[in-house]
Amino acid sequence: MAIDDFATRELARRRDAGLIRRLRQIDGPQDTWVNVDGRRALLLCSNNYLGLANHPAVQEAARRAATEYGVGAGASRLISGSMQLHHALEARLAALKGTEAALLFTSGYHANIGAITALVGEGDAVFSDELNHASIIDGCRLSRARVFVYAHNDATALEAQLSRSAARRRLVVTESIFSMDGDTAPLRALCEVAERYDAMVMVDEAHATGAVGPGGAGVVEAEGLQSRVTVQMGTLGKALGTFGAFIAARRAVIDLLINTARSFIFTTALPPPVVGAALAALDIVATDAGRRWRLAENAAVLRHGLAAHGIPCRAGGTHIVPVLIGDAERTMRMSEQLLAEGVFVQGIRPPTVPPDTARLRVTVMSTHSWDDLQHAVDAFRRVFTAEG
Ligand SMILES: Cc1ncc(COP(=O)(O)O)c(C=O)c1O
Repeated sequence: MAIDDFATRELARRRDAGLIRRLRQIDGPQDTWVNVDGRRALLLCSNNYLGLANHPAVQEAARRAATEYGVGAGASRLISGSMQLHHALEARLAALKGTEAALLFTSGYHANIGAITALVGEGDAVFSDELNHASIIDGCRLSRARVFVYAHNDATALEAQLSRSAARRRLVVTESIFSMDGDTAPLRALCEVAERYDAMVMVDEAHATGAVGPGGAGVVEAEGLQSRVTVQMGTLGKALGTFGAFIAARRAVIDLLINTARSFIFTTALPPPVVGAALAALDIVATDAGRRWRLAENAAVLRHGLAAHGIPCRAGGTHIVPVLIGDAERTMRMSEQLLAEGVFVQGIRPPTVPPDTARLRVTVMSTHSWDDLQHAVDAFRRVFTAEG
């Protein structure tokens, strides 16, 4: 078959460039330790930041929702009815984010492409940070708006682009905590620039929702910018330990999304057990701030331990701790060596990150013990020493 030839050639090309991807089987839940390909290893690459993916209360809530509401939503919410459970979760998320309303999406990918394409279209312009996630990039492309990519976290570069734009509607879009670098966007400065040019601001809080902020709402909350950000996007599949995502915004924006966001309209709604679990996860986020403190503390302890051995981890204070290697093949080799040392850390290569910036993306969880982190530091030290 022609497709087999194409696939073989394409995969060989990727293998030669050190870019081949493969699935690794793990047994059991996303816990602090997992069995990877049959080997026991410390899990240092999960976005289950607060350890809620297998928290007993969250699991129990999923079971209860399955019993009461079944395991499937049946269809898109515009087709077979919008379940009370979905509305309850949206009310909780709007309250968390300090907005009039919220709308659930099946994933962060769906939320980003749905929101961006609903907010801007032909004749409009979207201004996107150069390190934004693929789902934001795809949303920009799908929107048919003119796309301007500004230098990472650079409000001055953004202003230069905005000042030259005569577009009908303008949207600035950024992550708050960047998924592959773990640094934080200068949201206040970006909002100030956007306001000067009457631009909307959309903030992707995939890695911040539940994990940072006084109430666990994210960086927008921590900076008190709720009324200045047009659209807050959050995910349920990372710190909240479950699955799905949402957009929080003014009622008019949410109504617009219900009517025009194709990734909301044309897909089956989140399953009830997931929604029930997310509600229970929000209860824990609201009542157990200690998990967020431990997350930040664990990140600081790990950074400090790595830096003490000269291991090049990026400065900056979040729970995503990238260790920059550069070369893709070397990165993957070190990832294998770490696994042999009992530490599961994923190598991240282009095109997920820019060329020559391959890295080991280390993420801590609030449930890691200090012994776990010491185990990680020892393993990194041995691997870096062996690599020279
Ligand atoms: C910054 C960012 N936005 C969006 C997404 C997509 O979220 P989801 O995994 O729920 O599709 C991710 C996750 O991979 C992400 O890192």
